[in-house]
Amino acid sequence: MIRLAGISKQYASISAVRDVDLSIPAGCIYGIIGKSGAGKSTLLRVMSLLEAPDQGEVYYNEERVDTLSGRELLARRRKMGMIFQNFNLLGSRNVTGNISYPLEIAGRHKKQIQERVDELLSLVDIRDKRKARLRELSGGQKQRVAIARALAANPEVLFCDEATSALDPQTTRSILSLIRELRGKLKLTVVLITHQMAVIQAICGEVAVMERGRVVEQGTVETVFTDPKTPAAKDLIHVQQ
Ligand SMILES: Nc1ncnc2c1ncn2[C@@H]1O[C@H](COP(=O)(O)OP(=O)(O)O)[C@@H](O)[C@H]1O
Ligand SMILES: [Mg+2]
Repeated sequence: MIRLAGISKQYASISAVRDVDLSIPAGCIYGIIGKSGAGKSTLLRVMSLLEAPDQGEVYYNEERVDTLSGRELLARRRKMGMIFQNFNLLGSRNVTGNISYPLEIAGRHKKQIQERVDELLSLVDIRDKRKARLRELSGGQKQRVAIARALAANPEVLFCDEATSALDPQTTRSILSLIRELRGKLKLTVVLITHQMAVIQAICGEVAVMERGRVVEQGTVETVFTDPKTPAAKDLIHVQQ
């Protein structure tokens, strides 16, 4: 469903992403793992059309999308949700206000927004926090708010950039199982980047290993785990076992 062909992205003298080819099937949970600085977030920003690549092409269902602009770009971006390590929520708004924000921007009617926010609160299981301020929430609850907000406009793809990296192991497990459940319920494609092999092992079907801007290994999680071919993959597995 998502296909990257020959993607490169440079920042001044730094080659953040180098000649990456990747195919992500619809409906899967696809992991991208690598050490800090490997180029994961840059690749995700290109894939989610937040940044244009210097070279290469991005396709969604064989439609080229990296060249879109204006309304077409906005429409395509509306089909994507994104969550981050630091949640990126609006401190001036409560839980409901954060979840309704993208719907307000999209110009939905008040009643429609209320109904959708109710659904989303149930979906991520934080109905009792609907009126809470952000400072009253745990990290796991904040990430649930961020997930609800990301899903507000019914996206087809959910991008997760180190979404559990600031959470303790138990909360990490609960957020990962929520993501897995939502993937099934909403027929999402999930692209998840992390530096933690345990996260990949917990929910991903396929994985790509990045090192210094390149994808150096890819395959099913089982294959890469049991028979890592590259030093980068061996390192990541070794460090965390
Ligand atoms: N906006 C930017 N401006 C300059 N350099 C950047 C920018 N974003 C990323 N980089 C650099 O590109 C490389 C890859 O970064 P990044 O994609 O954030 O890696 P990762 O997410 O794997 O930690 C790093 O060397 C980083 O410093
Ligand atoms: Mg990153």
